[in-house]
Amino acid sequence: MSPVDGGVEVVVDKVSKSFEDGRIQALVDVSLRLQPGDFVSLTGPSGCGKSTLLNLIGALDRPDSGSISVGGRRLESLENPAGYRAGTVGFVFQFHNLIPTLTALENVQVPMFGRGLTRRGREERARLLLEECALGHRLKSHPSTLSGGERQRVAVARALANDPPLLLADEPTGALDSATGAQIVALLLALREQRGMTILLVTNDGDVAEEADRTLRLRDGRVVEGRAVPGSVSGSVPGTAGGLTRAAGPRSA
Ligand SMILES: Nc1ncnc2c1ncn2[C@@H]1O[C@H](COP(=O)(O)OP(=O)(O)OP(=O)(O)O)[C@@H](O)[C@H]1O
Ligand SMILES: [Mg+2]
Repeated sequence: MSPVDGGVEVVVDKVSKSFEDGRIQALVDVSLRLQPGDFVSLTGPSGCGKSTLLNLIGALDRPDSGSISVGGRRLESLENPAGYRAGTVGFVFQFHNLIPTLTALENVQVPMFGRGLTRRGREERARLLLEECALGHRLKSHPSTLSGGERQRVAVARALANDPPLLLADEPTGALDSATGAQIVALLLALREQRGMTILLVTNDGDVAEEADRTLRLRDGRVVEGRAVPGSVSGSVPGTAGGLTRAAGPRSA
């Protein structure tokens, strides 16, 4: 796979996050680095902190300690987290979270509101994005009339609404059969090639994880291993520059 221009660098530095007054340590000293254009999968057992990490990188929540920077901007000192989320990050979730009363074309426009586009401009952009996601023939369809894979493709188009350099996907294939899931991953790979996004994809499907340049594994709130693919954009492994590091030792609660 050849390096791709575009996307942003994501640096997570010794990030910890706990819940319930420290009784639940969701992330413990997690450090990792994604290069611009990286496509990295994140795996690990249920409850190990994958969604927590995505939420922190997406500025939906804040770490207790450590720092995260995206494209050189430190998230802890963002003046406008909502602006960062809208302009820099696209989210795709396991369950598409589309608005049932809106058509595909309308759903894709939702993140575009308040960003200075005319109605025609929004519609045109949404149409192009849906075409890019091979759904140009279902613009006027409501989510309930679409298949699971088609809905998830609308969700991907919506995530791209503001042309984000970073796509965070939390088990986007988790509710799909393996063939349909493979189509979503193929779409993400194609979009990365065309647009040069950085993609962090949470998955528990080994076949899906294998498609990425690298796989990071979380266990008990720590990054415990990574698989590097030769020739990838940044084929780094744990403990090496450009890869990820971790603090050793058991999880304490
Ligand atoms: N808002 C919260 N309040 C309390 N505990 C939370 C909260 N969010 C997450 N947790 C806990 O933090 C830990 C990590 O949760 P997280 O959702 O990140 O796991 P995950 O790896 O995404 O799991 P899954 O594969 O099941 O989605 C879990 O023990 C979870 O119960
Ligand atoms: Mg999760």
